Amino acid sequence: MQKVELYAHKVAIETIFKKGSEMSFDDELSGVLPEIDLIGDEQLRRKTVYAWGIALRAAGLSPSALGEMPFSLLAKGCGITLAQHIGAVTRSALSLADVMVSSYGGLVKIDRDLVAVGGLLHDVGKVLEYERTEEGYVKGYYGKLLRHPFSGVWVCERAGLPVEVMHIVAVHSKEGEGGHRSVEAEIIFHCDFANFEPFKD
Ligand SMILES: [Fe+2]
Repeated sequence: MQKVELYAHKVAIETIFKKGSEMSFDDELSGVLPEIDLIGDEQLRRKTVYAWGIALRAAGLSPSALGEMPFSLLAKGCGITLAQHIGAVTRSALSLADVMVSSYGGLVKIDRDLVAVGGLLHDVGKVLEYERTEEGYVKGYYGKLLRHPFSGVWVCERAGLPVEVMHIVAVHSKEGEGGHRSVEAEIIFHCDFANFEPFKD
């Protein structure tokens, strides 16, 4: 069962991106998001790559765009890219998770892979929210109607990721205020803002 599912994902990604290119989609994505290797579970890792394939295909972009796109339209001046931000949030979140586990022992239970996947996918919807114009990236029509937490949930569902990942994506931003957040979602929420507030324009 597991092998069939993995093969299905591989076929899907190869269908998304033409065969015969010098670098595979996986390699190209890992080049801009090396933190993908921090996901321990192979199924989750494959589905995370697949989710990026779905989002980038829908946006008509290749992985290299993540190394050019600003991570926030409210922090364009700093020059930090979406790939840099996602990497920093993922690594910050894993460090925070490790500190919490070592400090509180059995008082807190954290799924480290959920934290890694949540960090890597919390902003996956931004490639659908933003549009490139001659003046640079702006919020597109789609993004005005559906901010990235909403489109991100759709991408994750389409990629077959578990509800725990969709939850992290859904509540990592202001849309999640006032509602329930799992401990993994709390970690991503705080690490995301810690990697945003100092850089606002
Ligand atoms: Fe973010």
